[in-house]
This record gives sequence, structure tokens and C-alpha cells, in this order.
Amino acid sequence: MKKVVLLALMALALSAKTTYVYVEEGVKLSPLKDGTVLYSGTPLKVIKDGEYRVDGFVGKDKTKLYATKNLKLLLAESKKIKAKGDRGILNIKLNKKHTEADYEEAWFKASDTFYNKCTKCHAAKVVADHTQLEWEGLYASMASFAKPTKEENALITRFLNAFAKDGILKESE
Ligand code: HEC
Repeated sequence: MKKVVLLALMALALSAKTTYVYVEEGVKLSPLKDGTVLYSGTPLKVIKDGEYRVDGFVGKDKTKLYATKNLKLLLAESKKIKAKGDRGILNIKLNKKHTEADYEEAWFKASDTFYNKCTKCHAAKVVADHTQLEWEGLYASMASFAKPTKEENALITRFLNAFAKDGILKESE
């Protein structure tokens, strides 16, 4: 019970300041006017309605912004990323219809694909039980069993990287 209340409070605190890129088809939005590409489920800090900021990490290629330092989960591609060291920020204007405040909703297609493809032979594995690096190896061997399409592969990979032990989000019970 306590845990449930705490999670609800956390979700409330999060939803007040953060929303998420919502993509209906595929894993990314078609490029914005300035050429920026946003990936599904990317957390957006709400500046005000229609104005958002993406925080993340950059590698050598400063036009790509990732969720974590190991550069495994791509959030955005843009020439407008402001990089400082390994950190990057990107300010964007985005129609609110491409955002979703409930992250489980924003990540639904990815999680649905994972549960669909990966529970045919065994019960669902707990994503948070493994790190991103562990999942890389596990998924590589399981993908040959599950035979995902290219899009399913992209969705599952993003889901595992986002919800892994060292990812950026937690699945609720
Ligand atoms: C065709 C059947 C099949 C499908 C589909 C399948 N798995 Fe598995 N999976 C297995 C079997 C069999 C094992 C146990 C034996 C083994 O580890 O190889 C296993 C084991 C695992 C393990 C535990 C491995 C370990 O070393 O602890 C994980 C994690 C896993 N699967 C994840 C996935 C994911 C993610 C997917 C979807 C991409 C998936 N599986 C789809 C058959 C499948």
C-alpha cells in the first residue's frame, strides 16, 4: 500500500514537469520544420505548452542526443543541440498533440511489442532485473528466437534500454 501511494506521488510530481514524445507510427516523429527528429517516449521538460527542452548526453556526434551516458537510447537528432562536455540540451517547439504526459501511455507501443514478442515461450522477464548492457547480450540471443521485424526490433530495443535497471523509467506493477 505504502509503495503504491509513493508511486502515485512520484508519478504526480513527474507529470507536473515532464511530458513524453508520443509517436503513433514507427519510432520517431517526421522531422520538425528545423529538421529536428524526435524519438518516441523521449522525456520533455515542459517550459510552457508547446515549448519543451530535452536533456541528455552527446558523444562525438553532437547532433545526436541520448538518454544515458553510454549513448544507448537515442532521444533526438538535431543541429540545434547545445553541447557542453558530454551533456546536451535541445529546446524545441512541438504541437501538444505529439506529447503524452503519462509515460506508460507514451511507451505503450514499445511495451506492447515487447510483451507480445517475448512471452511466447516463457513468462515475461522483468526488464528492471538487468542493466542495459546485460540486455544487449540477452536480447541478441532472444531476437533470433522472437524474429522481430525491423520496427519491432527498434521498439523492443528502445523499451529495454528505457526500462532497464540503469534506464530512465520504471515500470509500475
Ligand atoms: C521461441 C521461444 C522464445 C522466445 C520467442 C523468446 N525466448 Fe527468451 N528464452 C527462451 C528459452 C528456451 C529460454 C531459457 C533457456 C535459455 O536461457 O536459453 C529463454 C530465456 C530467456 C531469458 C533468461 C536468460 C538468462 O540467461 O537468464 C531472458 C532474459 C529472455 N529469455 C528474454 C527474452 C526476450 C526479451 C524475448 C523477446 C525478444 C524472448 N526472450 C523471446 C525462449 C524464447
